Amino acid sequence: AIDISALRKETGFVTFDPGYGNTCPSKSSITFLNGEAGALRYRGYTIAELCEKHTFEEASYLTLYGELPTAEQLAEFKSGVNAYSKMPKQLEKIFEAYPDTIHPMVMINVLTSSLSAYFPEVTSISDPAQVEKATQVAIGQMLTFVAFAYRKSIGASFEYPTEPCSSAAGLLKMMFGNDYVVDPDVEKVIDELLILHVDHEFNCSTSAVRLIGSSQANLFASVSGGISALWGPLHGGANQAVVEMLQFIHENNIDPQEYLEKVKRKEDGIRLMGFGHRVYKNYDPRARIIKKTCDRVMAKLGKEDPLLAIAQKLEAAALEDEYFTSRKLYPNVDFYSGIVYRAIKIPTEMFTPLFALGRLPGWIAHWREQNSDPKARIGRPRQIYTGETQR
Ligand code: ACO
Repeated sequence: AIDISALRKETGFVTFDPGYGNTCPSKSSITFLNGEAGALRYRGYTIAELCEKHTFEEASYLTLYGELPTAEQLAEFKSGVNAYSKMPKQLEKIFEAYPDTIHPMVMINVLTSSLSAYFPEVTSISDPAQVEKATQVAIGQMLTFVAFAYRKSIGASFEYPTEPCSSAAGLLKMMFGNDYVVDPDVEKVIDELLILHVDHEFNCSTSAVRLIGSSQANLFASVSGGISALWGPLHGGANQAVVEMLQFIHENNIDPQEYLEKVKRKEDGIRLMGFGHRVYKNYDPRARIIKKTCDRVMAKLGKEDPLLAIAQKLEAAALEDEYFTSRKLYPNVDFYSGIVYRAIKIPTEMFTPLFALGRLPGWIAHWREQNSDPKARIGRPRQIYTGETQR
């Protein structure tokens, strides 16, 4: 990497880099990603090992603090987060202000942004104790926001779990009610999906969090910007978009090969959703794990989903097709995750909120990393002006 700051000072040199494809705004020690090799590790641990041997809470702790927790550290972390898992009563009024048809991403964004108002005592960016509490508030509240956004969409009242449970089980209980019996395999699947989404270096939403945080905006304000960035269909919104694409193909009885031809002709700008990645030019390692999970879930539930059959046909055809292979377009994390969520009865509009829940520890870790760097500067790209210079 070339450090162009000195060059810029001397010559006014500016890099033109659409989409920041080749721009590195800072160093980071959170996530190792090698797109050519298809490798992804949080603090040096592979995602496969974390999914196999650890929980979402442990992966969150690892991402935030750099080491896997001891039993004592984990218990302390969980109790810190649990202390903030109840939503302030006044926030219920915010739910009342929106129609039930609202997309849950709007709800969790508005609620996260409101945390600055309800927890003003933890909005300092320079007091480590406040940063620690803000971390616990954000993680504790987000699970509740995600579950309650769903409850609102079905017009149901809010419920908290009656006994201590994992984030995955708590999410299911809060979404579907305390009578819902959590199948340990389903709990494991959610836990695994959350782990796979924890961090992904300087992706669009994390970069948004870092950029907002670089102005010294507090953690809640920065994270709510990340939620907005995540919602778009080219990023975290792709999991919903994939299932909608598969449904469209299914309901209109379109031959998958024919659909691929439309994609290749770029008809109406359509893309094969869930395919392609800025960094992975080989198979996305998260997709590899999710595909196996998908097979496991379908076998366990004895289910057949016509959308899965369409996805498999699309994938097989695309992997043989020069359009996709020459552009190095392979399935990404979102291609099969929606099918897994469908199998365990998570509604389509909740896919992206679940992504946000998983990504939250990563956003916070990045905000904290940048915030603790004494040399961090405000993010401020330059333009190449193409308008009238004077009129
Ligand atoms: N389907 C069809 N063609 C595609 C696709 C796709 N999914 N993705 C890229 N291409 C084509 C582009 O049209 C372009 O073709 P060209 O060379 O003929 O102009 C070429 O591949 C390069 O594409 P870019 O848009 O330059 O790639 P970029 O790195 O900017 O975009 C992205 C990456 C946004 C992920 C893109 O592949 C995409 O839109 N995929 C579909 C949406 C998706 O699944 N997003 C989730 C990504 S994972 C995540 O964020 C969690």
